[in-house]
Amino acid sequence: MVAEAPAPLLPPVAAAPAAVVDEAPAPPPETPEERAAALERMSAEVAACTRCVLAGSRHHAVFGEGSTTPKLVVVGEAPGADEDRTGRPFVGRAGQLLTKMLAAIGLPREEVFICNLLKCRPPNHRNPRPDEVAACKPFLREQLRLLDPPMILALGSPAARELLQTRRGIMSLRGRFMKTRDGYRVMPTFHPAYLLRNPVAKRDTWEDLKKVAAALGLEIPPRG
Ligand code: URA
Repeated sequence: MVAEAPAPLLPPVAAAPAAVVDEAPAPPPETPEERAAALERMSAEVAACTRCVLAGSRHHAVFGEGSTTPKLVVVGEAPGADEDRTGRPFVGRAGQLLTKMLAAIGLPREEVFICNLLKCRPPNHRNPRPDEVAACKPFLREQLRLLDPPMILALGSPAARELLQTRRGIMSLRGRFMKTRDGYRVMPTFHPAYLLRNPVAKRDTWEDLKKVAAALGLEIPPRG
């Protein structure tokens, strides 16, 4: 007997009527096992995705990684060269800084889930294009439904704009808790790649991270 391939979690982009995409999301899976299995299936869908032109230039799609019952979901912009090469999110210089930022509020990487707005690398460090964001955003929405996080940390303008459905940039959005249309609590803050170029912005980012720690009831570890 041949096992039937499971139905895809998301319809092909061209076949997704706007009304379906705008419906309130279904409740998250009830058990951690169901949640992990759904994420596995979705990861395979992302790996085979051809919804936009980036499928033609990527080496690896980067689904995201971390706890399937996370205290926090971190949403960045898009994989860079290191992430495209390894298939893992935030493993380059910006990723190393992100890991330190999380550790500073007592969150090891393994306790959060780290992903991006786009799952594939835009070539030549260019910004995500609107059609790429439109093609990819159902994946992020479904990831959030499955992970059902108590908090999202949105890194940089593209992630914050998409999650909060606003045209405002990170300068005016950062530092205050907001909600996505699906009801998830979001703290927008600077992207670690921006912090590498503008270290003075680390002070504001630290204030934002301390608010996240307080809201999650985390104890800030002593600096060592
Ligand atoms: N920048 C991002 O936004 N995401 C990554 O995964 C790496 C760098």
